[in-house]
Amino acid sequence: MREMPWPAKIYFVLCIGAAGILLLRSSQAYDRLDWSSTLVLALLFLVCESVPTQLSVRQAAISVSFSAALAAVVLVGPEGAALVAATAVFSVRPGLATHKRLFNGAQFLISGYAAGWVYTLAGGEPGLPQRTDFPEIILPYGAATFVFVALNFALTALILALAEGVGKRQVPVPDVAQFLLSYLGYATFGLLIAGLWATVQSISAVLVLLPLFVARWAFGQYHAQHRSYEATIAALCQAVETKDWYTRGHCTRVSAASSMIAEEIGMGTERLHAIRYAGMLHDVGKLGVPTKVLQKDGVLTEEEFAAIQLHPMRGLEIVRGIGFLDEAFAGIMHHHERYDGRGYPMGLAGAEIPEFARIICVADAFDSMTSDRSYRKAKPQEEAVAELRKWSGTQFDPIIVGAFIRALDRDGWNPPASVPAPSGMPVVTAAKDHDDPTTPIQVVSDR
Ligand SMILES: [Fe+2]
Repeated sequence: MREMPWPAKIYFVLCIGAAGILLLRSSQAYDRLDWSSTLVLALLFLVCESVPTQLSVRQAAISVSFSAALAAVVLVGPEGAALVAATAVFSVRPGLATHKRLFNGAQFLISGYAAGWVYTLAGGEPGLPQRTDFPEIILPYGAATFVFVALNFALTALILALAEGVGKRQVPVPDVAQFLLSYLGYATFGLLIAGLWATVQSISAVLVLLPLFVARWAFGQYHAQHRSYEATIAALCQAVETKDWYTRGHCTRVSAASSMIAEEIGMGTERLHAIRYAGMLHDVGKLGVPTKVLQKDGVLTEEEFAAIQLHPMRGLEIVRGIGFLDEAFAGIMHHHERYDGRGYPMGLAGAEIPEFARIICVADAFDSMTSDRSYRKAKPQEEAVAELRKWSGTQFDPIIVGAFIRALDRDGWNPPASVPAPSGMPVVTAAKDHDDPTTPIQVVSDR
């Protein structure tokens, strides 16, 4: 709290003050409040708030508690909803600082009260909804949901921005579709709880929220699994890139460029994930090529060239056991095939080459050309694009080259920072880059 900038401190005090005023205002209605429902909903809110599930966006952890707060809006009105939401102060989150707890409680209280107020303003009547209240109740409930979500997001985003200093950090913007769908789902469950309350009372919460908890748990597991995939892939990339000082970041950039092409040609979400992984791991087989061959200056012997040509196969051997890679295997195995059939390891041509491999091949060559190498400086983007056009139809698939150029025009490209020549420090550099189409590897016959 002490380290918070002044604007954040002022905003913090304002929010706590506003919450305090609303709490005082609410107290006038306490004598006609349905206390038993309020207490059950508050307990429910507290339990749900204590087990948030993170979405894919950092800090945007939302929990099932939204359903409980929105059910409170219908069942116990603005005063009750404010009390229910304020219990966020007591949520079980080890390590959460007191001032953060206070702010959380205050912003939930404000959001809950405002949502309840809008609900009554739009014609909703707090209390047990009757069968005759449907479908008219949907309009005030929708308005209340919108206010609750918008206020909750805005109040939290503002404190995050102010705490870091305005402009110093971007407030995370969640995936809008995911965000809205998520809230729409929570809102529906809130209305379901309120609707069932007349029949089974607090059991309605268990009936509605238990399956939701199970679904959220499965969702959490799925995210944890994805994080472990990312960590595995990052570790393998790191291992490959330690083989050459100049190829740091290459895996990530090839992955990014491959994703740009894949999006441009309209690939679905699952395949987009797979090609991102394939781009990251395309050169993992370098781990199986002797470093002295990768580093060798001058012409290579046939045996040495054969060792380099084997790296796609080696790559496949290394990652074959990783089940989630699926189609990425084909990208890794064939990323050095050429469109005219003169590539390796299989000499496939045209449409015989898997689509993933044709994409990675273009992304790989482009990044290699626009990055510094030990034997030359990075080429400007225009020159690299001209090279792609030049070799389109022979080395590269013309459709993929066209898609990449369109994606580049639309999204632009962040070329890697210039790599300072290593001085004094013993680092590994390759004499030739096997991905660089402008400096093909020369081979002499042993015989
Ligand atoms: Fe390669």
